[in-house]
Amino acid sequence: MRDFLKALPKAELHLHIEGTLEPELMMTLADRNGVNLPYGSVEAIRAAYDFHDLQSFLDLYYQGMSVLRSARDFEDLAMDYFRRATAEGVVHVEMHVDPQAHLARGVSLATVMEGLGRARRRAERELDLTSAMILAFLRDRPAEEALDLLERAAPYWESLDAVGLDSAELGHPPAKFAEVFQRAKALGLARVAHAGEEGPPDYILEALDVLDVCRIDHGVRCLEDPTLVERLCEEAMVLTVCPLSNVRLKVVERLEDHPLPAMRDAGLTITLNSDDPAYFGGGLLDNYLACRWAFGWSREVFLDLAGNAIDAAFMSEARRAELR
Ligand code: ADE
Ligand code: ZN
Repeated sequence: MRDFLKALPKAELHLHIEGTLEPELMMTLADRNGVNLPYGSVEAIRAAYDFHDLQSFLDLYYQGMSVLRSARDFEDLAMDYFRRATAEGVVHVEMHVDPQAHLARGVSLATVMEGLGRARRRAERELDLTSAMILAFLRDRPAEEALDLLERAAPYWESLDAVGLDSAELGHPPAKFAEVFQRAKALGLARVAHAGEEGPPDYILEALDVLDVCRIDHGVRCLEDPTLVERLCEEAMVLTVCPLSNVRLKVVERLEDHPLPAMRDAGLTITLNSDDPAYFGGGLLDNYLACRWAFGWSREVFLDLAGNAIDAAFMSEARRAELR
């Protein structure tokens, strides 16, 4: 089964590029850039990854990315991840990027976008790995800041596929970002949003109605509202579920308790994803394997899930045909 799941062409639709920063590269970049980390070793970094909820993870996630300073750092970050992903049978990656977290510490948008852009072009050339880019807004920051970021990103609109909404969910409902998502739509950008990870089913509904999203990131709490589930099924709305993330952030106690099988039984359109692989114990293949162990799913189930991701990906029809 491992060989089968590894060879299966997989698309990763829910990944934060800053969440691919492995402790080894974090140490290397800290040395390169003279950044002081509160850890003495790779082991000490890993030992700190003991989260009790989303916020406790986000605190370390934002601290970790402080080592990223130059375009070369961002290129190294993404190339390192792209190589690991390719080795796991990942053929297409859609990455969220969090520019506000970099702007806030004096790293320019050009630095971030040029570094990631270089890595994307190299990955396509050197690894036959295609990618998409999702400009994410931090929902625990003011909506005006998100609007300002979208306008500042004008030189990069062409290289963007979508806008997204991430960071601390509770207390920051999607409607707060109605205006910026409307502007993104007018620019011809697709829209996705994290909703129903820690937040209530109402946030999922709001993401659909107010932000007009084409995918819901996570969405696992939708099962609490049968009417919402019915609608998600009717619209064949894609949910980018992240099993290992949900365990690490205590959305569920154990993977065996995860609502994934119930979500599939309800007829929802599910994809499997890794979210922040450097922090949550594994990449996309590890997420597939963990589901195999926890749920005993057959090859047919994984073919279906991997197919959903290829179908829902922001990729050319030629690439989709090649991967199907
Ligand atoms: N940013 C990085 N990972 C995230 C997650 N799982 N939820 C919300 N924001 C995030
Ligand atoms: Zn996420």
